[in-house]
Amino acid sequence: MRKKIVAGNWKMNTTPAEGVELAKGIVALKGEVCPSVSFIVAPPFTHLTEVMNVIKGSGIALAAQNCAAEAKGAYTGEVSARMIASIGAEYVILGHSERREYYGETSETLNKKMVQVFENGLSPIYCVGEKLEEREAGKHFDVVRAQIEEVIFKLTPEQFEKTVIAYEPVWAIGTGKTATADQAQEIHAFIRGVLAEKFGAKAENTAILYGGSAKPSNAAELFAKADVDGGLIGGASRVAADFIAIGKGF
Ligand code: PGA
Repeated sequence: MRKKIVAGNWKMNTTPAEGVELAKGIVALKGEVCPSVSFIVAPPFTHLTEVMNVIKGSGIALAAQNCAAEAKGAYTGEVSARMIASIGAEYVILGHSERREYYGETSETLNKKMVQVFENGLSPIYCVGEKLEEREAGKHFDVVRAQIEEVIFKLTPEQFEKTVIAYEPVWAIGTGKTATADQAQEIHAFIRGVLAEKFGAKAENTAILYGGSAKPSNAAELFAKADVDGGLIGGASRVAADFIAIGKGF
């Protein structure tokens, strides 16, 4: 049985006080959603601890949006996977297109971050997805395959079992433009097939989330698809009622 996951990526939004309010709102409404849906919230580093204190015992899990590629030491401004794990977080988002695009994250960097994530008992939410020009040129399958082969294929089967994948077409992120449910299903099924080439039947158990302008009004249609196991939500994750309403889409 695959996990059903709704994860909220708050990006660089909310102060600690605002983040605590948002988390309280999510905790208060969570009971309205079927218990088989797992919620994850990913606040900025500055308030991971405070948000953790709010969600503790609620069944909602904590994620960081990034982690350092090194274990510790003279890396000014970086936050290590060990620090993240010590707070009680369970997940780290890795390879988000904004990190790839604005901070030059390559597969090489991501391989190192993966090592840190697993050494500290965390699980990655690994993002893949093509840009608009890549889709228009019909290259989306090749782009996504490379993003998986260069990073996920380096994992051991045990590490792979703990990994969540998020397919996020760059052209749909924050644009209000969502992939159609059929487009999502097509590429999610492709991703599962690529994962199966390396990890065989284990790929059947991998949660593959859709991200990119997912919202309450389109969640049910997306989640109805066989290979869409949930969502990685940006904008709509910062309104508690919308985030929870997306969870009701299952
Ligand atoms: P969006 O962001 O829902 O605001 O499009 C999704 C993401 O980047 O994770």
